[in-house]
Amino acid sequence: MANETKEPIAMIAIDGPAASGKSTVGRLLAEKLNYLYLDTGSMYRAVTWAALQEEIDIEDETAVTQLAHNIEIEIFPVRDGEADGRHYTVHVAGQDITWQLRTPAVDANVSQVSSYLGVRQEMVARQRAFGERGAVVMVGRDIGTVVMPDAPLKLYITASAEERARRRTRDRQAQGHIANYDDILADVLRRDQIDSNREHSPLRPATDAVLIDSTAQPPAAIVDTILKMIRETVTSNQ
Ligand code: CDP
Repeated sequence: MANETKEPIAMIAIDGPAASGKSTVGRLLAEKLNYLYLDTGSMYRAVTWAALQEEIDIEDETAVTQLAHNIEIEIFPVRDGEADGRHYTVHVAGQDITWQLRTPAVDANVSQVSSYLGVRQEMVARQRAFGERGAVVMVGRDIGTVVMPDAPLKLYITASAEERARRRTRDRQAQGHIANYDDILADVLRRDQIDSNREHSPLRPATDAVLIDSTAQPPAAIVDTILKMIRETVTSNQ
């Protein structure tokens, strides 16, 4: 963590593997700080959803990359009347696809889509443009390493694979879906494997990231620790 910042921290980068709790922590942190929140995974999921929808062969890198360049993705905070458990709303070409992003078909294909360099370059450019507004919490796999390498605060949140699969199973069931722990564990492990070993921007902590293991810690406790860390950084520099 760089600590030459005198201004309040403009950008918080949070990375970590599937279902590690990073999105919940990021969202709560953004709420507490009154920052904008961007879950970059939703953008790779939106490209994947659109590719499946248009019946593009997921193995066809050129076609998927072209789609990523042309796709119109908009992400909005939750508005009145949308209280169905969503944490933000995602539109693709004006269509609300927030819940379609969470289907097993998208889970099964998103790591392949996000391994393509051209897809990443396009999404990273859009993410950086968002980050330039300042007062942003951005969550993903490569935020601290690639998207925002100068972020003054970088966090890397992990948890055991079993705990992550338990959480994802509970979330899915709470959303009214049939969810099988073993299938979800297999998906989480498979995505970790692809995300960590891909050629472009593999999942890994930035060298200056603060590592947090969320296995036995609820998100609220982690958020409190981070807020304390931020207060100490800001005051120690004034
Ligand atoms: O919520 P969960 O942790 O399961 O996944 P996500 O954050 O929605 O990300 C879905 C997938 O998108 C990941 O498995 C990665 O393959 C990819 N991703 C990425 O490559 N880079 C990011 N900055 C965010 C997500």
